[in-house]
Amino acid sequence: MSVLITGVGELTTNDGPALTDAALVLDGDRIAWLGAAADAPAADERVDVEGRAVLPGWVDSHTHLVFAGDRTAEFAARMSGQPYTAGGIAVTVAATRAASDDDLRRVLRGHVAEAVAQGTTCVETKTGYGLTVADELRSARIAAEEADEVTFLGAHLVPADMSTEDYVGLVTGEMLDAVAPHVRWADVFCETGAFDEDESRAVLTAAKAKGLGLRVHGNQLGYGPGVRLAVESGAASVDHCTYLTRSDVDALAQSETVATLLPACDLSTRQPLPDARQLVDTGATVALATNCNPGSSYTSSMAFCVATAVLQMRMSVQEAVRAATWGGARALRRDDVGVLRVGARADVQVLDAPSVTHLAYRPGVPLTWAVWRAGTRAR
Ligand code: NIG
Repeated sequence: MSVLITGVGELTTNDGPALTDAALVLDGDRIAWLGAAADAPAADERVDVEGRAVLPGWVDSHTHLVFAGDRTAEFAARMSGQPYTAGGIAVTVAATRAASDDDLRRVLRGHVAEAVAQGTTCVETKTGYGLTVADELRSARIAAEEADEVTFLGAHLVPADMSTEDYVGLVTGEMLDAVAPHVRWADVFCETGAFDEDESRAVLTAAKAKGLGLRVHGNQLGYGPGVRLAVESGAASVDHCTYLTRSDVDALAQSETVATLLPACDLSTRQPLPDARQLVDTGATVALATNCNPGSSYTSSMAFCVATAVLQMRMSVQEAVRAATWGGARALRRDDVGVLRVGARADVQVLDAPSVTHLAYRPGVPLTWAVWRAGTRAR
């Protein structure tokens, strides 16, 4: 089944300058043709988008969607001045362990559907609210049912009933052995209150030896070793990057490690916003992601992150859109998403607006008009 999308007012491809009067053809789950509307071939179905902007679907490269329970009270306390701490994770761990598989599936599916309806077409999600071998394995299996990419985050928090030494031994041993066949990535929360530099290095070294790609939560709540460790370990991405020294920025710029910024999380935890301008100007690859989770960032809206990046982090609209599409794809080491070109996955969104500039010009307005995810019309 092929679909001709025509009448495109502005086509953002991430594979060259934006095009006008363009069209594209989706065939099955791939993009089959892209070019000037006047040259477009026939297709089984024709969708005239009447001058709207077309761009790649969002690539949300950082979420935590396998969870149960609610942390509204914690959020409300934060808005009254309480600080965010890693310890809140334990509340979600207790609720997640107590939930049935179907409860977890329902929450995951609901959030993925909510994201897709807002233009997200590629979603990474993590384990990390199980923290026992059985619960992390269950989370990984359930995550793989809905997410495009799955990350093992056993090293999210040390459970209250274990010593750090014993827990790191478990995460780098029996738990890793059990979960590794179900995931592509491993991650560690390298932060005060979670895992220190040596513990984080042990987690990353074991995961790498097991053949997993690496990701790091780093520099979220203060300056620290996360970025340096991520770069040294060859991690695909270091996520948060809220507190960066000049040497962290230089290390990122000289590496293949993507700086994944999570502005909705910084707002929700009353942290400063990261210095995206410095990262971009220094040559680092930047991604934007939601960090959708019940504790620090309960939003699935990539458009909100893009608008925030433009309005408050001094990114241009084009830089922010690229970071939320191609940047996310780089953070996941994917060449087939976050870009519109022949052969790429048919992940396309259409805005009810003539240009991507409206994402920041009309913040908070639901602009998603149509979505195709792997060639299937999702909205
Ligand atoms: O990326 N920083 C660690 N993990 C999540 C928070 C999870 C939670 O608070 O439940 C994050 O912000």
